[in-house]
Amino acid sequence: MKQFFPRLAALVARLLELSPADVEPLLATPKHPDHGDVALPCFALATKLGRKGKDAAPALAAEVAAKTGQGEPLVRAVEAAGPFVNFRLAPEVVAREVLEAAWSVARYGGSDAGAGKTVVIDFSSPNIAKPFHLGHLRSTVIGWSLRQIFRARGYTVVGVNHLGDWGTQFGLMIAAWKRWGDEAQRRIDAGEDEIDVFVDLYVRINGLKKQDPQVAEEGRGWFRRLEAGDDEARALWRFFVDKSKAEFARIYEVLGITHESDAGEAFYNDKMPATVAMLERTGLLVEGKSRLEQVEDARGALERLLAAIDRLEGEVAAATDEKERKAKQKDLDKAKGKKGDLAKRVQALEAQVAAPVGEDAGDDDDEGAGPADRRPRGVLVDLGNKKEPFFAILLKADGGTTYTTRDLTAVRYRAETYRPEQILYVVGNTQRDHFVPWFKIVEKLAEKGEGWAQGLRLEHVGFGNYLGMSTRKGTAVFLDEVLERARAAARTAAESAEKKIQLNDEQRERVARAIGTGAIKFFDLKGNRTNDIDLSPLTDAGGQPDAGIAWDRLLNLKGDSGPYLQFAHARLAGILRRSEQPIAADGVDWALLGDPEAQALIKTIADFPDRVRQAADEYEPSLISRYLLDLAQRIHVFLHERRVLEPRPEEGDVAAVRRARLLLVGAAKKVLAEALDLLGIEAVEQM
Ligand code: ARG
Repeated sequence: MKQFFPRLAALVARLLELSPADVEPLLATPKHPDHGDVALPCFALATKLGRKGKDAAPALAAEVAAKTGQGEPLVRAVEAAGPFVNFRLAPEVVAREVLEAAWSVARYGGSDAGAGKTVVIDFSSPNIAKPFHLGHLRSTVIGWSLRQIFRARGYTVVGVNHLGDWGTQFGLMIAAWKRWGDEAQRRIDAGEDEIDVFVDLYVRINGLKKQDPQVAEEGRGWFRRLEAGDDEARALWRFFVDKSKAEFARIYEVLGITHESDAGEAFYNDKMPATVAMLERTGLLVEGKSRLEQVEDARGALERLLAAIDRLEGEVAAATDEKERKAKQKDLDKAKGKKGDLAKRVQALEAQVAAPVGEDAGDDDDEGAGPADRRPRGVLVDLGNKKEPFFAILLKADGGTTYTTRDLTAVRYRAETYRPEQILYVVGNTQRDHFVPWFKIVEKLAEKGEGWAQGLRLEHVGFGNYLGMSTRKGTAVFLDEVLERARAAARTAAESAEKKIQLNDEQRERVARAIGTGAIKFFDLKGNRTNDIDLSPLTDAGGQPDAGIAWDRLLNLKGDSGPYLQFAHARLAGILRRSEQPIAADGVDWALLGDPEAQALIKTIADFPDRVRQAADEYEPSLISRYLLDLAQRIHVFLHERRVLEPRPEEGDVAAVRRARLLLVGAAKKVLAEALDLLGIEAVEQM
């Protein structure tokens, strides 16, 4: 009901000789419909007017209630309830203003708030030669929805796919291909999924590497050649990149998703030296400790701790005073508690030092890689939670760059290329510890006078995991399975439709796709993004062995699902098809939309633009999801209580009632489709 706030504020302000700006921020929509359409709490106003005492607010409310209303067509009734003024708006005015606005503009939820501004959204960002896992699926779905939401707000959006296409793992991949490439190619030719074959190779070469240090050296050699631009290495890397991208493209095609840029990590290779130079110039780049030094430190700390334990044990035994003994015992327990962790840390560091130079556990970006006596370089960041600042490694002991170096290089490039107001990183909650420190580095660079970093807003848009579902099969397989089941759901829907609908094969496949992808997207977007998504079945239906996923919840035509919303849309479309009558806002008798069900639906429609704003402000597509469920619910109630095409004669002139209700149906359908589009879900006309 926000669209009416300015006018109500002006009304009250005039009465009290205040400025509308004093009043408007106080207005609110009451939770309970009994409290009217708009409420004005009077505490702040009483203070503003210099009225004191606990009766000031109720008195003011009574005064406002008594004075408003006369001759104001928007206001049907005003009531003071304690310190609140409750306004009830005139149903025919609400109907006219909301429906005219919703019907006349191309995008009712849109605005020009972001006009002239750009937002970069880093989303999806899978890794080459590795599975596109469900985390990437979530990033893809959430990122796309944010793209739609920001576009609706008038922003220019640059969606970037920050592909993981660089790193030492490619050296090993090439080494693997050199060994087993012929066999791998045969498997691919025989129709096996390329990424599956790549992942197999990667697992195999890592296994071999553990037994044979020579393999690690081979991998490093290939990575060096790759970095030096060696033809053979480049060609194989290209091959992995192309094949992986082709598979990702298939997934994006099914989901209906595109990016404006797919500049991955490799894109920044030639820009990395400038990042290092910038950090040196600003004095932020410092040397960290070599692994040998870290071992020494940890050993020293452990020795000191053991000595302290010895000393405390003696002191506890010697203590004469009970209070003193207790205090010492407490210190002793604390010291003993630390011992295990510290000993483990020493061991881990020793193992790292003992490992061959540059050797690592197969982690692509192991920051401990490189000679044990050489120091990595990085930036000290105060995270405010520990005594010691955090050391963000930018150049490993072997001189190689890290994930962080590549992100710093990318952020500068994006800032300079797109001049965005903000950059969103749609990446799982688990990477919080990666983003927080380097966001701070960007802040420091801004303070040091780096213009590109100034006023730049960086936001880690995190999200939870999928639970109750194995990711082993990979996203492509999951999508295929969902689509297959969506086909069945689409068949059921078509058969149970009130009026049988005839779809040809192509149409049916389109609907199945829309339902299948709609189901996945809505399931992903329906809860707060930072929550985990639980797809495990609520009940183990008959203990089926493959009861791995709650398909019934995902594709439920009647529950909180994408297909349920699509079904609501198709239902409205069906009514409009059968009406065979154009919809128009002029000539409507607005008083015919005064019934409670129509009013509830109209007021829900009125909430849409503000909900879109909020979703953008909070980077939270679930606000749209919840809105959609609410809207669909009100649509169903309206259709259940009120007949659109054949109104009852006692409701008024039949043609006029039909005409008014058709406009409402048209506006509801339009807003439903628009909101679905903000989630990347297709609104189907028939299903
Ligand atoms: N490729 C990374 C992963 O799969 C995600 C990259 C996210 N974007 C970024 N700029 N760091 O974990």
